[in-house]
Amino acid sequence: MGPARCSLLVPRWPSLLSLLLGLGAGAVVDWPAQEGKEVWDYVTVRKDAHMFWWLYYATNPCKNFSELPLVMWLQGGPGGSSTGFGNFEEIGPLDSDLKPRNTTWLQSASLLFVDNPVGTGFSYVNKSNAYATDLSMVVSDMMVLLKSFFDCHKEFQMVPFYIFSESYGGKMAAGIGLQLHKAVQEGTIKCNFSGVALGDSWISPVDSVLTWGPYLYSMSLLDDKGLAEVSEVAERVLNAVNKGFYREATRLWGEAEMVIEKNTDGVNFYNILTKRSPMSAMESSLDFFRNSLVRLCQRHVRHLQGDALSQLMNGVIKKKLKIIPEDFSWGAQASNVFMNMEGDFMKPVISIVDELLEAGVNVTVYNGQLDLIVGTMGQEAWLRKLKWRELPRFHELKWKALYSDPKSLETSAFFKSHENLAFYWILRAGHMVPYDQGDMALKMLRMVTQQE
Ligand SMILES: *[C@@H]1O[C@H](CO)[C@@H](O)[C@H](O)[C@H]1NC(C)=O
Ligand SMILES: *[C@@H]1O[C@H](CO)[C@@H](O)[C@H](O)[C@H]1NC(C)=O
Ligand SMILES: *[C@@H]1O[C@H](CO)[C@@H](O)[C@H](O)[C@H]1NC(C)=O
Ligand SMILES: *[C@@H]1O[C@H](CO)[C@@H](O)[C@H](O)[C@H]1NC(C)=O
Ligand SMILES: *[C@@H]1O[C@H](CO)[C@@H](O)[C@H](O)[C@H]1NC(C)=O
Repeated sequence: MGPARCSLLVPRWPSLLSLLLGLGAGAVVDWPAQEGKEVWDYVTVRKDAHMFWWLYYATNPCKNFSELPLVMWLQGGPGGSSTGFGNFEEIGPLDSDLKPRNTTWLQSASLLFVDNPVGTGFSYVNKSNAYATDLSMVVSDMMVLLKSFFDCHKEFQMVPFYIFSESYGGKMAAGIGLQLHKAVQEGTIKCNFSGVALGDSWISPVDSVLTWGPYLYSMSLLDDKGLAEVSEVAERVLNAVNKGFYREATRLWGEAEMVIEKNTDGVNFYNILTKRSPMSAMESSLDFFRNSLVRLCQRHVRHLQGDALSQLMNGVIKKKLKIIPEDFSWGAQASNVFMNMEGDFMKPVISIVDELLEAGVNVTVYNGQLDLIVGTMGQEAWLRKLKWRELPRFHELKWKALYSDPKSLETSAFFKSHENLAFYWILRAGHMVPYDQGDMALKMLRMVTQQE
């Protein structure tokens, strides 16, 4: 890692809004009072591998950004774009209609969105052999990015830095968190690393698969016959994982999803109380592939880049950012990202969470009640497998109810914490917690980052 090249590019939101509305200087626009500073750039993390990041400085009317934490958000897939989906559909300052989001995390933290692994979102590779193929490559690429980021943004070196994540992003967050902890101790990266939050995360995929049947059955979404079919294929996934046949396990995972679709009249894996949304044009165009991996990729990545979001990112956003190569489109390499990680997809990383806990890093686990793909029961199952010596004390505790609206009696979540482990059971949320329960997600962010 040589000295980082620092960019001086400092664009601002109003330029985008002016662009959209065709307004010239001096026009009055209805815009939140404290529009913030933002910067973005590429970091070449390896030969032919260019990673895109986008930083928003916190915009709190009473606090300077330097008094608030910095949060990096990692999307799932692998191949889902943090600068696209996480930013515009979940926690960023604007929603996908470019309207201000009431529950944006920007009021309580500066936000760093990174499109990783390379090939995701606006990140791209120049050679097809430059994609990451396993977690350790994902982690080492991110270390290059973070070193460059903190070297160039010294104003964030003292600010508490948290990694929040969703789905496959949780697996990456665990690996990145552990490596970052080491790098900070060795002094190679200067930052105030303060913890990881693993949302509906891919820590032990097989534990999710094994609880699909019982969960759906208890929710009246499977009958006895359906339960038997789902359990049968789940057992086969378990066998493959136990033998270390991870590619086979990935294929069987896809098969299990199809068995569920058939038996539940197409339940939405991301929120069981809704139906699967109709396929986008992009999905349909891939439909002629008979390859099960492509189907699996569709299910895991395509929902993160629907047509509308794709148009936004490749339209006004690309124009605003200016540095995206003309010949490259947001999301164009996403399915390659997913397929290159095929052998890694089903590998558990429970031991990494153990190492984080042992090292004293704060670990938060949060999960949406209505998520199927990474259901809460599965999360509790891998949690019980931790070797952390404080685990029995954690399990002895009773949970507490949380209310996102202090004036309401409606329970928003349950919560438990002991030493450096915390668990949030988020009610009425599916896989994408901030998307479904913005208020509660914001409250959780504030709790995790010691603001309430
Ligand atoms: C906010 O903090 C930064 C970094 O500490 C400092 O340079 C800047 O002057 C502060 N801004 C205000 C308005 O206090
Ligand atoms: C956002 O907050 C404003 C003001 O409190 C409110 O009028 C509006 O309905 C909220 N929007 C959403 C989508 O909740
Ligand atoms: C790398 O890929 C980008 C995006 O497609 C392209 O714009 C750029 O010219 C390529 N660079 C080289 C050296 O091939
Ligand atoms: C990290 O952040 C905490 C909380 O703001 C602060 O007390 C501490 O001094 C910071 N540590 C470093 C090394 O900057
Ligand atoms: C880590 O968690 C403990 C226990 O909840 C808390 O006291 C501490 O402030 C947290 N540290 C950071 C940096 O968030």
